[in-house]
Amino acid sequence: GFFAGMHTRMIQTTDSASADVRILDILYGSQTGNAEAVANDAAAIAKTHGLKPVVRSMDEISVADLAAMEHLLLITSTYGEGEMPDNAQLLWESAQADTAPTLPKLHYSVLALGDTSYDLFCQAGKDWDNRLHQLGATRVYERTDCDVDFEEPAHVWLSAVIPQMADGAATTIVSADTSTNDKPQYHRKNPFPAKMLANRWVTSPDSSKETRHYEISIAGSGLTYEAGDALCVVPTNCPDLVAELLAAIGCQGDEEEPVNGELMPLREALRTQFEIKNPSKELLEEIAKRSGDQELNGLLSAGSKDQLSDYLWGRDTLDLLLQFPQMEFSAAEFISLLKPLQHRAYSISSSSKAYPDTVHLTVASVRYDSHNRQHKGVCSTFLADLVTSDTEVRCFFTPNKVFRVPEDNSLPMIMVGPGTGIAPFRAFLQERQCRQATGKNWLFFGDRNAATDFLYQDELADMQASGLLTRLDLAFSRDQAEKIYVQDKMLDNAAELFAWLEAGGYFFVCGDAYRMAKDVDKALHEVIAQQGKLSAEQAAEYVNQLKKTKRYVRDVY
Ligand code: 2AM
Repeated sequence: GFFAGMHTRMIQTTDSASADVRILDILYGSQTGNAEAVANDAAAIAKTHGLKPVVRSMDEISVADLAAMEHLLLITSTYGEGEMPDNAQLLWESAQADTAPTLPKLHYSVLALGDTSYDLFCQAGKDWDNRLHQLGATRVYERTDCDVDFEEPAHVWLSAVIPQMADGAATTIVSADTSTNDKPQYHRKNPFPAKMLANRWVTSPDSSKETRHYEISIAGSGLTYEAGDALCVVPTNCPDLVAELLAAIGCQGDEEEPVNGELMPLREALRTQFEIKNPSKELLEEIAKRSGDQELNGLLSAGSKDQLSDYLWGRDTLDLLLQFPQMEFSAAEFISLLKPLQHRAYSISSSSKAYPDTVHLTVASVRYDSHNRQHKGVCSTFLADLVTSDTEVRCFFTPNKVFRVPEDNSLPMIMVGPGTGIAPFRAFLQERQCRQATGKNWLFFGDRNAATDFLYQDELADMQASGLLTRLDLAFSRDQAEKIYVQDKMLDNAAELFAWLEAGGYFFVCGDAYRMAKDVDKALHEVIAQQGKLSAEQAAEYVNQLKKTKRYVRDVY
C-alpha cells in the first residue's frame, strides 16, 4: 500500500465491531495494479474512521450488488484509448444498459487514474462518474483525475472523501490494523538498484527484429515475485539524444535547475528526470505557438486527434525542434514543458521457484529510422545498450494477481503469446515444472520467421520432450505468402481447444493489445460458438463466464 500506515492514529479499540458499523464499499478497476493498491490503502484509512471497508474488483460484483450499496469509493484506471480496464468491463456493460437499476441510495466518489499524454485522459473514471450520477446516485465529493504521478492527488482525495463517507455514521470506531501492512521496501518511489547479469539475443542476428533476454539480480533486495507479475524498470535517457536536444534548444547543459527540490545541471535532469523522446502536449502547443506553423496548429485544434497521432508517428521531440529552427528555450522553460520520466513494465519471463534471485525479461529493442535519424525506444534500448555491469537497473515489481498459474495443478492451461508475448508463458511453464503440476499445457506462439525469430526454441523443445509442454502450435507469419497468425492456429484446432476449455482449462493471452488480442478474442468466440453449437450471444455468455471465473485473463499492452 502506498498510503497505509500514514493514518496510524488509534482512536478507540472495541472488540465488538457492532452490526451498525457503516460499510464502505471500495471498487477498483485495475490493469496494472495501481488502482487496486489505492483501493487497499483506502480500506486501511477507512478503518481508522470507523468504517468497515469492503474492497472488491469490479468484476466480482453485479449491478444488483451496486444497487444495494450505500457508500462507495470507485477507483479506476483507464486502459488503451479511453477504455475500461479488463476487470471493469463486464460491470460497465451492465451499468450502461437501459435495464440498469437506479441507485437512489448510493453515495459515491470516483478517483480516476490516467495519463495526460493520452487524449481520452481518465475516460473510464469520467464515464463511471457520469453514469452513477445519471442513475440517481449522490456524488458526495468531486472526482479527482490523476496523472501518472498519482500518489499525491490520490492521497488528497482519500483524506477528503473518507471523512465525508464517515460523516453521520455510528461512532463505533475500530482501530487501524497496520500490522498486516507488509509494504515492500522497494517500490515506485524507491526502486531497487539491481545488477544486470545477462543480456543476450533471442532472435538471430540476421532477424528483422532484435529481441533480447535479460537476467536481472534481485539478490539481497528481499523482493519476491510470482509468475505473471511484471518488473517495472526506471530507465535513463540516451546521453547522445540529450546532447542533441541541448544543442537544438540552445542550452549548454550545465545550467543548474531545481528539480524535485534539488538543484541539478540541465544535462543530468534531461538524462534522468524527464521524458524527452515523445513530446508532451504542453511542449507541442508551445512549439506550435512559437513557430506559428499552420499544419501543427491545425492538428492541435480539437477534432484532429487521429491526424495528430499520424503526424507524430516516428517524429520525436528532437525532430520537431529541428523542424522549426531557432526554437530556443531557457533551461527552466524547457523543463517546465516536460513530463516526469516514467518506468516501463515488462512481463517477467521466469518463475521465482526456478530462479529465486533473478528476474528474466524478454524485450524487443525498439529501433527505427525516421526523419533522417536513428530513433530508439527509451527503455528497451536503455536495457540493451546503456546498462553495463557497473551500472544499475532501478526496478520494482507490479503484481498481476489474476494473471496466474491456476492453483489447481491438474487443470489445463492454454497460452497464446506471439512475439514477446511468450514472456509470462515461459514463466508459467517453469512454474508448472517446479510445482510438478500434472495439468496439460498448450502454447500458441508466433513471430515473423521460424529461422530467426523462434524465441526460446531449444527450451521449448526440451519442455515438449519432457512432456511438460503438451502442445506447441506455431504461426510464423512471414515464412509463406499468406500470413498465418496464432488465431488461425486456434481455429485449425477448434475441437481440441474447446475440449480443453470444457475440461476446466484456463485461457491466457499476452502481447499486442490492439490487433492480436482483439483477433484472438474473436477467434475464441468463434471456436466456442462452432464447437459448442452456440449462438453468438451464447458464445459471448460462455466467454463472459470464463472472464468472471478468471479463466480468461490477458496481459496485453
Ligand atoms: P506480422 O508482423 O508478420 O504481420 C509477433 O509480432 C507476430 O505477431 C508476428 O508474426 C506478427 O506478424 C504477428 N501479428 C501481427 N498482427 C497480428 C494480429 N492481428 N494477430 C495475430 N498476430 C499478429
